[in-house]
Amino acid sequence: MNSVDLDTLVETGNKMIQNGIVIAPWLTWGQGQYRISMDLFDEIRTWAARYAALHWRPDWTIDFARSFPITVDMTAEACREAVSGTAVYLSHIELGTLRVGEEMVSVATRLTEDFIEKVGLKQFVTFYLYTIIYEDLQALQYYGSMHSDDFLKGQFHRPWGVHTLQSELQLASATGMIEIDSRGVVQLTAYGKEILHDITQVFTESGFLKFRFRLIRLNKFNTLDDVESIMKIVFTNAPALRTRLIEFSEIRPGMTVLELGCGNGALTFGAGLYEVIGPNGRLVATDPSMSMLASMKRKRDQYGAHWVEVIHAKAERLPFPDKSFDCVIGSAFLHLTDITESVREIARVLKPGGTFSTFYPLHFPGQRKFFLEWFEPLLKFEFKSSHADALPGPDTVPKAMQPYFDHLEIEEIYGISQYTSPRTIVEMIVDISGMFEQHTDTLPWRARQDLINELIRRGEEVCRKYPPEELIEEHPGQMIRAIVKTK
Ligand SMILES: C[S@@+](CC[C@H](N)C(=O)[O-])C[C@H]1O[C@@H](n2cnc3c(N)ncnc32)[C@H](O)[C@@H]1O
Repeated sequence: MNSVDLDTLVETGNKMIQNGIVIAPWLTWGQGQYRISMDLFDEIRTWAARYAALHWRPDWTIDFARSFPITVDMTAEACREAVSGTAVYLSHIELGTLRVGEEMVSVATRLTEDFIEKVGLKQFVTFYLYTIIYEDLQALQYYGSMHSDDFLKGQFHRPWGVHTLQSELQLASATGMIEIDSRGVVQLTAYGKEILHDITQVFTESGFLKFRFRLIRLNKFNTLDDVESIMKIVFTNAPALRTRLIEFSEIRPGMTVLELGCGNGALTFGAGLYEVIGPNGRLVATDPSMSMLASMKRKRDQYGAHWVEVIHAKAERLPFPDKSFDCVIGSAFLHLTDITESVREIARVLKPGGTFSTFYPLHFPGQRKFFLEWFEPLLKFEFKSSHADALPGPDTVPKAMQPYFDHLEIEEIYGISQYTSPRTIVEMIVDISGMFEQHTDTLPWRARQDLINELIRRGEEVCRKYPPEELIEEHPGQMIRAIVKTK
């Protein structure tokens, strides 16, 4: 395959993310709790079949796979997955609700149609095929080989499939990406490895892999029942850090303040930010998760804090005019966002001389003996602190802020974690912090599950071996305050 084609695919992947089109069948599947009702799913299927029949052309071939024909069924499947994935993404990730309504499906259908018009249906289907072939080839690379029965059921790498992977097995073998021996054992060929290398390159360069990592983080976050009790375990001193942040921010009564990533109000109400601002000021508390916002509204009524507005927003795209706020504040949210985009937006909505204050955890190489024993299966991988979506390194946020902010004040902080709840801690390390995402989130589905179970088992062993007072780890973090540059 020549480099021009790869460039076009990189561009397609990139546009897909920009346009909010999501192909992530695992997200729709939601660990067996399908997030789209059968009725809505049927509607999507009917639309996709009709759309494909209308626009597909019989002479299309997959350019990267030795000109294997693109069938009308593949085309319909690509359209169906894009609408389902996008509807779930919009509802679940953007709105924080697990229910996908009819409205979301029609918004997702419109977005998908518009997107296909922009990039062309053939190009769109080609990218879709990349996403499925990636899972197949990557699983074979990881396991070395797989019996064709296991491959067809997708039990190691694609448990979310609604049908067997017959056509995919056929595609991969007819194009020489895999070979199947007489005992039915499937293996990757040199050509298959080449294709996997190209796909990985396209996914990395287009930002698709990074986007997938973020989806995994947010998906996990939005399905947590009780963030507050998890925070109490993983950061036992979080209440003290929030109180310190309010002091550090120098927010005064009567100011107009924007809070980002307010969650269910630990900074706003728990640490008393609303009281510091008082009824002569204005506090706009925002979060992308609808369930968090619902809980915020209940608390606002409970506290009678009529000067607190609760608004749905993510830090990267703030629904406020330029120069609207005296201060922007938020606790433990920035590392969950695209830091570069967020700081640009924050600077935009600040009035001249306005300040931004926050704290966030940093990437950390755990050094305590119990930690090394517990996380040995992950620690053998190299830490990639420079990766944009893993926890930030000490320079990541200051560097991102530099173009827009002056007078940066940075305080080193420590989050104190109690490692006595193996399941919660493993959830935090693997699913929420994403510290090892380049290793954990590129594993085939089953291997990732096995790794999580292994880490929980090791954690239980470690908890039996060490007394609780030794099971404490300090996670480094930064508290930062800066003044927006005059524009
Ligand atoms: C660890 S919680 C912190 C909540 C609260 N500030 C506290 O101190 O407990 C992180 C919050 O960031 C929110 N969040 C996730 N992605 C975000 C984004 N892109 N922009 C703003 N907030 C985001 C989550 O929904 C969640 O409520």
